[in-house]
Amino acid sequence: MGLFDRKPIVASDDGEHGMRRTLGAADLVMLAIGAVIGAGIFSSLGTAAAGETLADGTVVRYGAGPALVLSFVLLGAVCGLAALCYAELAAMIPQAGSAYAYAYATLGEIVAWIVGWALILEYAVGNVAVAIAWGGYFNSLLTGFGISLPGWLTHGYWNVKASSDPAILQLLDTAPRLGPIPILINLPAFAIVAAITVLLLQGVKESTRANNIMVVVKLLVLALFVGVGAMHIDTANYTPFAPNGFRGIHQGAAIVFFAYIGFDAISTAAEETRNPQRNLPLGILGGLGVCTLIYVIVGFVATGLVPYDQLKSSDPLAKALQIAGLGTASWIVAAGAVVSMAAVLLVFQYGQPRIFYAMARDGLLPKFAAKLHPKTRTPHVTTTLTGICVALGALVADDAATYDLTNIGTLAAFAVVCIGVLVLRLREPDRPRPFKVPFFWLVCLGGAGACVFVMQGLPASAWIAFGVWMAIGLTVYFAFGYRNSVLRSR
Ligand code: ALA
Repeated sequence: MGLFDRKPIVASDDGEHGMRRTLGAADLVMLAIGAVIGAGIFSSLGTAAAGETLADGTVVRYGAGPALVLSFVLLGAVCGLAALCYAELAAMIPQAGSAYAYAYATLGEIVAWIVGWALILEYAVGNVAVAIAWGGYFNSLLTGFGISLPGWLTHGYWNVKASSDPAILQLLDTAPRLGPIPILINLPAFAIVAAITVLLLQGVKESTRANNIMVVVKLLVLALFVGVGAMHIDTANYTPFAPNGFRGIHQGAAIVFFAYIGFDAISTAAEETRNPQRNLPLGILGGLGVCTLIYVIVGFVATGLVPYDQLKSSDPLAKALQIAGLGTASWIVAAGAVVSMAAVLLVFQYGQPRIFYAMARDGLLPKFAAKLHPKTRTPHVTTTLTGICVALGALVADDAATYDLTNIGTLAAFAVVCIGVLVLRLREPDRPRPFKVPFFWLVCLGGAGACVFVMQGLPASAWIAFGVWMAIGLTVYFAFGYRNSVLRSR
């Protein structure tokens, strides 16, 4: 049937038809930080520390409490294992498409398709969540200037439907209507995605430069949070340290995993990286190391600043400073969050079109998706399509459901990458490997197992949504990709 046919590993398509190689290792670390530090640390940290309980008392997740720092350390280790595997494959297979391309070369076409389909959850669905979080912080900033947009322009329909807050629920009755349908849209979230899509269409170098500026801003803002916050820590807040034991640390980790997503995104830039054999491993591991260190410090300060249950909010870092009476710092951190999350949006809106591009080039998606712009050499068709889909999602979706779905899809892709490294080591032991995973049995099996373990901390609703998404994906594959695959038609 050819379902498990593997794509031969070849040097990437340089020259007239390929993309331009403009990125170095430092650019990649900046891209990684741009992708990684965002809604996860600025927003989901609160739920990870405090947990989530419904109005009727049902516990959706247990929080980690001050032991959140252990969740971060745990995730740093899990992602470190996956990052080593990513680095080995990214250096060997320096092609656009990230885990999708690696799965195609190691485990075969159908696994590659499944991974590519899961990556849509990581990139596009993840960006819907970040855009909604961005919109929330942006509205808080506007409020600081005395401007407030009407609720029906700042809350998407599904966001309102999923709310337990009576003030938000009443928008269903008070919003203007289009016939029987209430008009409930998140205009700021939509607008930021549209603006970033336009920026990306200008070409990669311009976008990288904008990203570098945003990364500097976010590092300064987190340094401000840590510097000011550390002087106001009350050590009493560290007791009890782990109020829900290991279950809290585990379930907290499963949510705040969102904060780690993105270090792999830079592997999607493999075809635009100079000397990828050296620069990709450096960029991936360097970026992950820096971010883990920052998270542990920020988590330690946040849970020391206020009792952990008061962090339950969509803007926990700003809120923690406010509760501690540090209003100005709180406002600056909120402004920094807006900038940071814009940087995250940029990197993911950059990555998703390159995955679609790789899939279309292989015939698994329609050919028009593999077009490069004659002048900018960017995949402008998929960049535009991704922009439209993510912007429409951000306009109406609920953020909580999108966080869970993003995490489960990403962890599944990470697990496949770990297994892919192992399979290729066994199948082609002599192939030159510019970067080799040390103790590969341990790292590969440990990495895959660790990803599945983190997935188990997610609620049942995430597993159901993931199953439905995968069923749709397989239907699309057999209806289109299976018939049009370039590899199997050869
Ligand atoms: N890691 C990214 C964030 O936290 C996705 O926003």
